[in-house]
Amino acid sequence: MVRVLLFKSLIVYFSQLLLIVSAHQTGKCPPSLDCGLLGQIQFPFTTTEQPHCGLLAIHGCQHDPSAPKTLQLGTSTTSTSYSVLKVEPRTIVFADDEQERYLRNKSCKAFSKNVTLPHTSPLASFRIKYNISIFRCNHSLKPSLPNYFHNYPNCSPEYDIFYAHPNTLSYTGFQWPSSLAPCSAIQLPLEGVPSEDPFQFLTGNIVVEVQLSHECERCLDGKGQCLLDTKGEFNCTTASAGSRSWVVKMVLALALVVTVALLLAIFKIYYTRLQKQNSANQRIEVFLKKHGALQIKRYGYSEIKKVTNCFRNKLGQGGFGSVYKGKLQDGPYVAVKILNELKDDGEEFINEVASISRTSHINIVTLLGFCCDGSKRALVYEFMSNGSLEKFIYEEKALMTDHQLDCQMFYHIVIGVARGLEYLHKGCNTRILHFDIKPHNILLDENFNPKISDFGLAKICSRKESIVSIFGVRGTAGYIAPEVFSRNFGVVSHKSDIYSYGMMILELIGGRKNTMTRPNPSSEIYFPDWIYNRLESNQELGLQNMRNISDQKMIRKMAIVGLWCIQTHPSTRPAISRVLEMLESKVELLQIPPKPLLSSPPTSPVYLSSEAL
Ligand SMILES: *[C@@H]1O[C@H](CO)[C@@H](O)[C@H](O)[C@H]1NC(C)=O
Ligand SMILES: *[C@@H]1O[C@H](CO)[C@@H](O)[C@H](O)[C@H]1NC(C)=O
Ligand SMILES: *[C@@H]1O[C@H](CO)[C@@H](O)[C@H](O)[C@H]1NC(C)=O
Ligand SMILES: *[C@@H]1O[C@H](CO)[C@@H](O)[C@H](O)[C@H]1NC(C)=O
Ligand SMILES: *[C@@H]1O[C@H](CO)[C@@H](O)[C@H](O)[C@H]1NC(C)=O
Repeated sequence: MVRVLLFKSLIVYFSQLLLIVSAHQTGKCPPSLDCGLLGQIQFPFTTTEQPHCGLLAIHGCQHDPSAPKTLQLGTSTTSTSYSVLKVEPRTIVFADDEQERYLRNKSCKAFSKNVTLPHTSPLASFRIKYNISIFRCNHSLKPSLPNYFHNYPNCSPEYDIFYAHPNTLSYTGFQWPSSLAPCSAIQLPLEGVPSEDPFQFLTGNIVVEVQLSHECERCLDGKGQCLLDTKGEFNCTTASAGSRSWVVKMVLALALVVTVALLLAIFKIYYTRLQKQNSANQRIEVFLKKHGALQIKRYGYSEIKKVTNCFRNKLGQGGFGSVYKGKLQDGPYVAVKILNELKDDGEEFINEVASISRTSHINIVTLLGFCCDGSKRALVYEFMSNGSLEKFIYEEKALMTDHQLDCQMFYHIVIGVARGLEYLHKGCNTRILHFDIKPHNILLDENFNPKISDFGLAKICSRKESIVSIFGVRGTAGYIAPEVFSRNFGVVSHKSDIYSYGMMILELIGGRKNTMTRPNPSSEIYFPDWIYNRLESNQELGLQNMRNISDQKMIRKMAIVGLWCIQTHPSTRPAISRVLEMLESKVELLQIPPKPLLSSPPTSPVYLSSEAL
């Protein structure tokens, strides 16, 4: 313990020495400036006392720490003062109090002005990180717009407000409809998922991201100072001119200090890794002891190496590690997942072992063994010869497989996955929520029976618990239920898996990712919307893989079930047993669900997590 403290203080001492030395190196501007409660700030941010040291000068840094910190933007005649909430290396968050008041009052003045950002210079450009374009059209204009546009009517008679769901905007080739050309556009910061009521998702808190020019980034990397010369051109100033020998001595001293600091830092990193690993291993051992009667075999790392023939045959790569093909001695083929070292405190490993070792179902992949040996952790599964469902779905990938799945087969897979989910949700004493249902995690055996795999995000809860508390967002973009993103949509529960399952069905019948565009982006854009409109108006679905009337009915049935599953509100989604009932009943008996309100959770985060402010 004492040793650790000693090393810590040594590191602090040396790093301060380093700061002082490098401050001399770069002339008058130190590498960072103190700004009270905002902490240390760095280029492009600076204080109003040293305005030449950055591009955005924050006022009030040198007063007492709790004094308000503000930022002045705009020209000297029309400048606005914002209070600064947070500063990060390339991001600043500030508050527009006036806008906040308009929003709280639901005043249409909130739509009247752009946020003033500093001008782009040869050193940097600025943008509002989470923004939405709002169109203000003369009331008499009445533009005709696609149905993914929202209209907020309460600002008439002066004008109408239009905006689109940002999901639609992420398609390559997207262009604003020309009918909006006569309208004035502003870009406003947002912090929620866009809905009918703009006052719900707009915000007065502005997150501005600074993108430094490449030459300026390079200059900073070289401990230089980005400047504009008198002609307004870029100039990178490095070490201030001084006597040469002084510079040499300084460089030598610096090198020495850096070396010592580096050695110490390496030691420290190694030490904390060791500690972290120990605590992770302790957690795992405690867990394994508690579940002493696990029916699965434990392997040493050397055995794992032997089983996989030194990791010769890689099957795939997931978020948590790589998967290799292996063969048990005189036994069957297996898939061995090697978990990333020390990515966490052993949580994924415990989740996976705890969840799967409790299950035994034809539609859930079987765990045969595991390895927990020092920092190495691995899981051994039965081998699925047909791999992941993913490669059979998406048109471009499916062409590369030697086997194309027909409609009948997709139906078989959809039913199988539902049975697996039913088992997880209802079949054992405890309820297991998977939280990452997607085609990638559905494996197919030699007869194309589907099996749910990858329980790294799973959560075990008692069957009585109808509400589950989870920390943060878990899952994969495109499949995450809205309530997992934002608790405004409802509580997280087994219905969150249903949503992901619904997205998966729709991808299966659509033959492509729901979030991707068709070759022609100006045609219908979002597949769930497209298929909903087709179903509702009773049109032919006209999808691939349909050969006869019974295929058509089957696709129609799966589409209806999929749309029920992706309802925005968890309570409107069916439970998994109802899903199975629907899949097994006649399509004529199924009701078309209400249109899913929100097309899908955004693929890029348009929400702000609480710690971002
Ligand atoms: C907001 O509404 C309150 C009460 O209705 C009013 O006193 C205040 O002046 C309004 N503020 C703005 C900025 O319109
Ligand atoms: C709004 O966001 C888009 C996409 O991130 C970005 O290209 C644009 O510059 C932003 N607008 C402003 C005014 O910062
Ligand atoms: C809106 O349109 C009407 C009729 O075209 C025109 O008279 C009016 O000046 C316009 N208003 C604005 C604010 O542009
Ligand atoms: C707001 O800014 C956008 C681009 O940043 C610009 O196209 C638009 O004309 C501005 N609108 C107003 C009303 O100033
Ligand atoms: C940058 O500025 C320094 C000092 O003002 C000057 O000596 C140097 O020549 C300039 N470099 C370039 C590339 O303009």
